[in-house]
Amino acid sequence: MPSVYLDNNATTPLLAEVFAAMRPYFFEEFGNASSLYERGQRARAAVEAARKSVAGLLGASPAEIVFNSGGTEGDNQAIFGLVSKDDHVITSAIEHHAVFSACKRAEAQGATVTYLPVDSCCRVNPDDVRAALRPNTRLISVMMANNETGVVQPVEEIGRIAAEADVWFHTDAVQAAGKLPIDVARIRCDLLCISAHKLNGPQGVGVLYMRRGTPMQPLIVGGPQEHNRRAGTENLAGIVGLGKAAEMARHWLAEGGAQRMTALRDGFERAVSEQVECIQILGQGAPRTPNTADISFEGIAGASLLVALDGRGIAVSTGSACASGSAHPPYVLMAMGLKRNQAQAAVRFSLGKQTTREDLDYVVACLVKEVSRLREISPVWKKVKGQAAPALV
Ligand SMILES: Cc1ncc(COP(=O)(O)O)c(C=O)c1O
Repeated sequence: MPSVYLDNNATTPLLAEVFAAMRPYFFEEFGNASSLYERGQRARAAVEAARKSVAGLLGASPAEIVFNSGGTEGDNQAIFGLVSKDDHVITSAIEHHAVFSACKRAEAQGATVTYLPVDSCCRVNPDDVRAALRPNTRLISVMMANNETGVVQPVEEIGRIAAEADVWFHTDAVQAAGKLPIDVARIRCDLLCISAHKLNGPQGVGVLYMRRGTPMQPLIVGGPQEHNRRAGTENLAGIVGLGKAAEMARHWLAEGGAQRMTALRDGFERAVSEQVECIQILGQGAPRTPNTADISFEGIAGASLLVALDGRGIAVSTGSACASGSAHPPYVLMAMGLKRNQAQAAVRFSLGKQTTREDLDYVVACLVKEVSRLREISPVWKKVKGQAAPALV
């Protein structure tokens, strides 16, 4: 049976080149980047080379790059490092739990938070950001690209509003990094986080970009690593891996990888639209990351389709990985105004650099069979088609 991995928004496979770059740092080149002897200095040089590489991916200067454990830590650091009791935060209703839960904790500690709505295409309206500003607004946190729909937010407009209002601006670029060009100067953000495992790097390592002069309380205290911005011995092999993944992502973007992936994804969506009736491609009218197709299949439960596809060797998702298993409909889709049953009928297909046209042809063929089978036994679908639902026994 073929094996097709279409859950690259949850995590991506490590590129062979990334592993090759990391490998020596587990073995002959191991060391602590803070040690003064030569081995330590070689480790330090590797960390600094990775810092330069990530800075290049983001259009930042190396001194503004702080290594950490990934996207969750970056989001938490941005919020807890800046926001105090009595401050006001503006965020959106479609942020990842790493922002959402941090905002909830900030509220419990006395801050106030405005959760902006999105339109039916999953976009925040910059006018809503402007209207939500208060004299005590300390931080705006709006993601660059949504993890479920892939919809890209108007971060440049929001960055301009934040700069004019003299409010700090954080953007979670975990789903954008490596898939879209990022330039922190254009976005005018003060903080931006990425995570290596979403761009074919290792799990458990990431970066928080901190514009020079952003006043941050560290989240983790201890030693003076990362210039007192994030304590703890550097994850040497992980950081080297992230540096290599960033370099590979830059090349991929420069040589048209995103355009090729968009064409592959659009072809997949076209084929599904042609061969499966009554589907809805979510966020389709908006700019999206090139790899994400979020599709609602009327009359069936996304979770049942996930299980059926898994039985055919295909890995997909019904929401963000950390929320899977939850009985609640995806909150991002509810925020877009979908009805509960439409939101629960959605499946996310997220392509990776390894995805081929043949993979997608196989997935379409399986979808045709499995959606039809699930609809045959679905009372909801029978209602949609105007047939009486079978009596429950
Ligand atoms: C948009 C977004 N932000 C943050 C995270 C958390 O990143 P990490 O897994 O590195 O903690 C994720 C992971 O799914 C994400 O999609």
